Amino acid sequence: MLDFLGNLERTHYCGALRASDEARDAIVMGWVSGRRDLGNLLFLDIRDRTGIVQAVFNKESQPAAHAKAEQARGEFVVAVEGKVIKRQKANPEIATGEVELIATKLHILNNAKTPPFPIEEEINAAEETRLRYRYLDLRRPKSHGNLALRHKIVLEIRKTMDELGFLEIETPMLTRSTPEGARDYLVPSRVHHGQFYALPQSPQIFKQILMIGGLDRYFQIVKCFRDEDLRADRQPEFTQLDVEMSFPRQEDIFHVIETVMVRACAVAGVKTQGSFPHMLYKDAIRKYGSDKPDLRFGMELHEVTDCFPEEAKAKLGIEGGLFALAAPGAAGYSRKQLDELTEKAKSNGARGAYFVKLSPEGTTSTVEKLIGAENVKKLADACGAKTGDLVVAASAKQQIKGTEAAALVAGQLRLQLGEALGLIDRKQWKFLWITGFPLFEWSENDKTWVSAQHPFTGIVDEDLEKLESKPWEVRSKGYDLVLNGNELGSGSIRIHRQDIQERLFRALGLSEEQLRRRFGFFLDALTYGTPPHGGIALGIDRIAMLLAGEKSLREVIAFPKTAKAQDLMAESPSEVDKDQLDQLGIAIREVAKEKDST
Ligand code: AMO
Repeated sequence: MLDFLGNLERTHYCGALRASDEARDAIVMGWVSGRRDLGNLLFLDIRDRTGIVQAVFNKESQPAAHAKAEQARGEFVVAVEGKVIKRQKANPEIATGEVELIATKLHILNNAKTPPFPIEEEINAAEETRLRYRYLDLRRPKSHGNLALRHKIVLEIRKTMDELGFLEIETPMLTRSTPEGARDYLVPSRVHHGQFYALPQSPQIFKQILMIGGLDRYFQIVKCFRDEDLRADRQPEFTQLDVEMSFPRQEDIFHVIETVMVRACAVAGVKTQGSFPHMLYKDAIRKYGSDKPDLRFGMELHEVTDCFPEEAKAKLGIEGGLFALAAPGAAGYSRKQLDELTEKAKSNGARGAYFVKLSPEGTTSTVEKLIGAENVKKLADACGAKTGDLVVAASAKQQIKGTEAAALVAGQLRLQLGEALGLIDRKQWKFLWITGFPLFEWSENDKTWVSAQHPFTGIVDEDLEKLESKPWEVRSKGYDLVLNGNELGSGSIRIHRQDIQERLFRALGLSEEQLRRRFGFFLDALTYGTPPHGGIALGIDRIAMLLAGEKSLREVIAFPKTAKAQDLMAESPSEVDKDQLDQLGIAIREVAKEKDST
C-alpha cells in the first residue's frame, strides 16, 4: 500500500543536514539510493537533488517504521520523518556524513521497477541505455551538478548582458533557411501545401534586421537547429548566446564578450582575466596547424619544406610543403609507437610522417638516407630540438587551395603528442581571439569558392577591390573565440551596404533569381538605412561542457540526441499518422524509405 503525500511538508533537503542540525526534527523526501539490512538496524540512503543522507530504522525502538523500511527497495520514492543525530563514525565521503536521521516514520510514496543500471556517480551502462532511460541517468548527482552549473552560467550571462545595455529579443523558430553551412530542418506548412518553414540554423538575418530596426544592442539565448554530421562537440539542436550591436568597433564586441566570459567562468570557480590575446588566422595555422589552437602547451610547428630536397620529395611522393615539431623527451619512442603515429597521421590526411630521434647516443632519422645528415640537422635545428626530443615532420596527401595542408596534418600530431606526453595543463584556461580570416575557402566538392563563415561577414575595406579578381586574397572582418583548443564562438563586423552584399552574393555564384528568392527581403531591408553593425554567437553548450570539465555536450544537455540525431527516450524522429500527412499534403514515397533503410 502506498502512502499519500497529503499535507506532509518537507523540512530539509537531504544534502542540507549538518552537525549543527543535531537534535532537530526533520522530514526529508527523495529516492532510496542504498539499503543495508543489519537485522535490528536497517539503513536507507535517501537521495534528492542536493545530495544523500542516511536514515536509520531501529527495530526495537520504532518497530512500525522498521517494518515499513523492510518493504522499501532501490529508487522507491519515500518521505522519512525523524530526528537528526551525530553519527558515531562520520563518513567523510558525503557532505552530510557527520549526521544521520533516526527515523520515526517512513512514508512510501511510490514504488519503482528495478532500474536497468545502478544509479551511481560513474555509470558503466552503454550510452544507448543511459539515453533511453535518461530520467534515471539524470538522477545522478553529477547530472544535477552539470545542469545546475549550466543554469548558473546562463543566469550570469543574462545578468551581464542586461547590465551592458543589451535587450533580449526573441526571433522566430518557424522561418526560412539561414545559410550557416549545414542542412535545414524543414517544417511542412498545413495551410500552404508544398511550402515549408525552416528551423533557424541561427538568428543571423533577424538579428541584423533588428539593427536596421534601431534596437542597437540585441542578445538572445536561443536554440539553433542544424542537420549536420554530429560529433562530441556538435548536437543537431544546440543553444547560442547570440549577440549583435550597432556602430561597433571590433574591440567593443570583444570587450562585451570578455566581460561575459570572465563572469561566466567565475560562476564555475574558474578565474580568468579579460583582454584575451589575439592571433592571426595564418599564424594559428602555421604555428599550431589549427584555426582553434590549444595554447595550454607549446610544441609549435615550423615549416621545414627546405630540409627536403626535390629528389627526396619526389621519392616520398610529397607535393606540397612540410611542417614539423619537436616532441620533448620522446626520442625513446619505439618503432611501434612511430608506426602508430604515422598511421594516425595518415588517417588525418598525411602523405607521410618522418622522424628524427635526438637520443643521447646520437641522432638517427627515418629519412637520413633520402635527405642527408646535413638536412637532418637542419630539420632538428629548425624545430629547436634538444637531446632527448623526437622531431616529427609531416606532409599532406592533398593540397588545399589557400591553406597549408601539411600544417593541418602536423597540427593533429601536435595535439596527439601533447596529450600522450602529458603536456596539457588541465588547470589552465587559455582564451584566444582569432582574426584575419580569409573571406572564402575552396570547396573541393563544389569546385568553387564558398564563404569561410557566412555570406554576411564583412570584407576588409582595402581588399574589396579584389572581390571578383582575386577572391583567395580577400580577408574578412570575421573573428572566432577559442578556449583550450575549442571553438567557443564566431562572429564578424557585417556587410551593411546593400551594393556590397549583392556583389558578394554574385561572387559566390548566386544567380539573380536565387538571390531574389533567398535573400530578396534582406537585400531590400539593407536599402532603408542600415547602420554599421556586428556581433557574435557563442555556443552555450560548449561553454557549459568545458566549465563542467566534461568531454561531451551530452553531459550538459538534459535531453541530448545520439550521433544519429535520435532521441532514444522519446523515440524521435518517428513516423506520423497518415491523417497528419494528408493534412500536410505529404505522401511518403516507398522508394525513398527503402533507399533510406539500406
Ligand atoms: P557559428 O556557426 O560559428 O556562427 O556558430 C557559433 C557557435 O555556435 C556553436 N555551435 C554549435 N554548438 C553545438 N552544436 C552545433 N552543431 C553547433 N554549431 C555551432 C559553436 C560556434 O562557435 N550566426 C553566426 C554567428 C555570428 O556571425 O554572429 C553563427 O551561428 O560554439
